[in-house]
Amino acid sequence: MTDGIGKRTVRDIDVAGESVLLRADLNVPLDNGAVADDTRIRESLPTIQYLVENGASVLVCSHLGRPKGERNPDLSLAPVAERLAELLGEPVAFAEDCIGPPAVEAAKALGRGEVALLENLRFHAGEEANDRVFAATLGTLAHVYVNDAFGAAHRAHASTAGVAAFLPGVAGLLLEKEVRYLGSLVADPPRPFAAIVGGAKVSTKIAAIDHLLPKLDRLLVGGGMANTFLKASGVDVGASLVEDDLLDMARDILARAGDAGVTVSLPVDAVVATGLSADAHAETVPIDAFPPDRMILDVGPATLAAFEAALSVAAAVVWNGPLGVFELDQFAGGSFGLARALAELDATTVVGGGETAAVVARSGLAERFTHVSTGGGASLEMLEGRELPGVAALLDA
Ligand code: 3PG
Repeated sequence: MTDGIGKRTVRDIDVAGESVLLRADLNVPLDNGAVADDTRIRESLPTIQYLVENGASVLVCSHLGRPKGERNPDLSLAPVAERLAELLGEPVAFAEDCIGPPAVEAAKALGRGEVALLENLRFHAGEEANDRVFAATLGTLAHVYVNDAFGAAHRAHASTAGVAAFLPGVAGLLLEKEVRYLGSLVADPPRPFAAIVGGAKVSTKIAAIDHLLPKLDRLLVGGGMANTFLKASGVDVGASLVEDDLLDMARDILARAGDAGVTVSLPVDAVVATGLSADAHAETVPIDAFPPDRMILDVGPATLAAFEAALSVAAAVVWNGPLGVFELDQFAGGSFGLARALAELDATTVVGGGETAAVVARSGLAERFTHVSTGGGASLEMLEGRELPGVAALLDA
């Protein structure tokens, strides 16, 4: 996985003495005004440190949450600036707005090797609208644009795409790493190649399954979306959530997998309950003796064992979507068991962002994976084979 991504990166330009507008994805969870999970801030450090060490002045910008063009104090990036300063071990100035006098003054005040963070880009409607004037205004703040916001690279917003019309744009180190791992896995995976898809709904994963299918040797399906595949295969799944309008689609995927020689593994047992609640009483049942009033909320131990056996021969594995309702302890066994199994594999292991990355982070095993993405939507779009607007906008290599 050493090929380039076809785009220029920070390593390809001389940043000494340059003012850099760095788009990072610092969209992190906050709790009572403090950063609750700093993974994305940590993952942004290598690019910031690279720019600092090479003598650039670094004006960082990001979105936080979905304020929809309105200033919302609960979604201020101020706590993120504090955490970033702690992690960098350097002061980080904070500008109360991402355009206008606060931003201009912050940019002017920055010396070589200094860092400032601009307030939430999405306090302005022009950000999500990819407004040309807003993008041009951001572009006046620096001479070079670096996009490191992989998690937002599937958005064609002013700071992720539009601004590149006004400044020379290159990839940051995180964006490069993400696109390289996910891109090369999808384009030319080591074989045997296995995909584990989970999560609540088939509808959100169809495009990714379609794109991956011709490259796959094994497809393992878990999570709520497996219910639709099970029903499509003639299994009675009782009161489980099923996307009935997608039963034909699921049958078609299973047929095409069969034609292509892809081995498909569906759950053979399940952890079930009468409803989804924190105190729900969980039982494990075989899938061929399903109680009519129960719903599937996790895969069972026999499924996990079958998945482990199927994965043991894989040279590369991509995992997108939890196998059960992992937020509740009684339905978390499948997802955490799979994380443990993948951590032991002698294979390339790549994990999609969002919920799947949250499972891996909570398992404490993230270091044992080849790559854990910081982008949920963005990694899914890469698995769908789509070019991300935030990458497309950058200068070609
Ligand atoms: C994410 O959390 O997936 C990214 O930061 C993108 O956020 P968005 O879905 O609000 O655009």
